[in-house]
Amino acid sequence: MELVNEVQRFQFTRLARGAEAEDGADVVAGLTSAPKTLPCRYFYDAAGSDLFAQICETPEYYPTRTERSILTRHAGEIAALTGPCEIVELGSGTASKTRLLLDAYADGAKEVHFVPIDVSESVLRESSRDLVSRYAALSIRGYSGTYEQALAALHPAPAPARMFVFLGSTIGNFRNSERVAFVARIRDAMEDGDTFLLGIDRRKDGAIIEAAYNDSQGLTARFNLNMLSHLNRRFHGDLVVDNFTHRAVYEPRRHQIEMRLESRVAQTARLADLNLSVSFARGESIRTEISKKFDPEELAGEFTALGLGQVALWSDARQWFSLVLFRLGAR
Ligand code: AVI
Repeated sequence: MELVNEVQRFQFTRLARGAEAEDGADVVAGLTSAPKTLPCRYFYDAAGSDLFAQICETPEYYPTRTERSILTRHAGEIAALTGPCEIVELGSGTASKTRLLLDAYADGAKEVHFVPIDVSESVLRESSRDLVSRYAALSIRGYSGTYEQALAALHPAPAPARMFVFLGSTIGNFRNSERVAFVARIRDAMEDGDTFLLGIDRRKDGAIIEAAYNDSQGLTARFNLNMLSHLNRRFHGDLVVDNFTHRAVYEPRRHQIEMRLESRVAQTARLADLNLSVSFARGESIRTEISKKFDPEELAGEFTALGLGQVALWSDARQWFSLVLFRLGAR
């Protein structure tokens, strides 16, 4: 662990070299399983992160703008409900939506504490520098590393309580068992009275969801296919990107959209650094992502079982997306 003091109000702890430090064991496991899968974290090299930012601006991809509109309307209420607290954001990225929260918390406050956690050190540094220059009362202690590493390394809270924040419905990208384990890990990092603000994409007409993952500009297709280029670069591979097609299909029984890369031809590819050769039948798919869509009541039951009670829920007029505030125990 390395502590880097950039300016007085921005401290930064490097916990890992980020995704680059991984060894690809998860790629081997996924590509040798039936059906084949790949972990969605391999979407996010520089090109993939840039494509994701562009997807968020497409007319079809409603989650980002809907969540932003809910935050814009209700950030003041959220701040009033939690009272002064340190804001710990998992997967903070450029923290663009977080600003709406910070506006509410900084309003009249002498000090505001923000803890961004992200695997990308460069994004973390850049966004933190920008934030401290915008908010005079803000001090930041950032962590670059995985959520697990950062939750285990958290310093004692300088404020009366903490609010953990996980936006964008990224929780939908976990399988059910992974989601429960992830929330339990956050719960273990919480003290009685701490809160957890979660963004969730809700169940709706499958056609609306499928359109969001098949945008007309083809950005989601490029985002999906870019994973293959990323793997080729990372592991000296020879996957032929043009030999695959993007598919995004809503599975109503599981309430999830699944992104897949479908092989156009029978082919074999090699990832030299992983000593792995993989064969694909024509039409065979690799599942690259699941994105679950939630029923808030069902989710609240799951959280209650983990000791987190729902305090409030805010939604857009169409009930497409919700922000939910949970609290651990009672203070
Ligand atoms: C990051 N995550 C919440 C996005 C989602 O909607 O599941 C990733 C994404 N995949 C395709 N488009 C966006």
